[in-house]
Amino acid sequence: MAVATPIQIRFERFDGRLGLAPAKPPRTVTALEKPALLERIRGLLKQRDAVLVAHYYVDPDIQDLAQETGGTVSDSLEMARFGHAHPAKTIVVAGVRFMGETAKILNPEKRVLMPDLAAECSLDLATPADQFSAFCDAHPDRVVVVYANTSAAVKARADWMVTSSIAEKIVAHLHAQGKKILWAPDKYLGDYVQRITGADMLMWNAACVVHEEFKSQQLRDLKALHPEAKVLVHPESPADVIALADAVGSTTGLIQAAERLKAKTYIVATDNGIIHQMRKRMPGSTFIDAPTAGKGATCQSCAHCPWMAMNGLHNLAEVLETQRNEVLVDPEIGRRAKIPIERMLEFAKTNLPTFKGSGDA
Ligand code: 13P
Ligand code: SF4
Repeated sequence: MAVATPIQIRFERFDGRLGLAPAKPPRTVTALEKPALLERIRGLLKQRDAVLVAHYYVDPDIQDLAQETGGTVSDSLEMARFGHAHPAKTIVVAGVRFMGETAKILNPEKRVLMPDLAAECSLDLATPADQFSAFCDAHPDRVVVVYANTSAAVKARADWMVTSSIAEKIVAHLHAQGKKILWAPDKYLGDYVQRITGADMLMWNAACVVHEEFKSQQLRDLKALHPEAKVLVHPESPADVIALADAVGSTTGLIQAAERLKAKTYIVATDNGIIHQMRKRMPGSTFIDAPTAGKGATCQSCAHCPWMAMNGLHNLAEVLETQRNEVLVDPEIGRRAKIPIERMLEFAKTNLPTFKGSGDA
């Protein structure tokens, strides 16, 4: 595997220990105010002709609201697909910025709102468009494949966009055509896809701050304590953690795999926000967070994305009320970024995602 020069990830965007601004958590909701707040959001969604598109990592109350109001809670591929197909004039994206940008790129005529526009992603932050563009210029013989977790400007430089649920299939498709690939930004997902497909992939060097923290030795120890447990791993995790998995897949893939595996206990190596959906579908099972090194050691996010955590009920209600926090994408960048996204959506129509452990991979 070839890896590019390391890029300095701007951890200071959320890491208070460096003395710089941490990601700002949303205003707390008291038990007393919650019912009225939920009712207000339901009413505003109707009034504004808005649909709520949420990721599995956000606040469980927001996930439930999305589902009960005709929106969706899903992985990044389905978030993009759902928002695009839905007739609502406004899409409210409860997730991180690249998800809001993808919705805007696909639907430039619609209003796209987010509870907090400062909800970033370490992969996106570690891939500045100018440096990425120079990297592409240096390798003109390669097809440029970028993960969804990038800015609109980076996507505008790509031939294909992929999400974790379809990356393997798209890379295998390109490899079968004899294409060499330039991959960005997640080196662990890239490495996983490379090992499965055997494709020639030149990697950008970035990682997810949540998944990178899962530790294989501690996971082995935890497995020894729960020998019956099945291990679910998102492929943004390091290879030695993936090697211990019973199922590897996108967030939707992991939920589906858990349902098929029918275990009493699961160890979950992805953001623990997903456990809300797993518990709803498998109320009799136990779900345990996969181990990180812990707060006092190297762990910075401890199995919960600090940016996904910025989505709360108060700021959700406020953006619906005020229509502020609109996601805007430069129209020319948006026009170019739409090409690799639509290419992926078109490919996905005839190539349904498969996952290790899901019964079909
Ligand atoms: P999924 O597409 O699997 O939901 O992943 C998005 C993400 O950001 C994972 O960290
Ligand atoms: Fe980005 Fe990781 Fe957060 Fe997903 S969990 S949005 S990859 S930082």
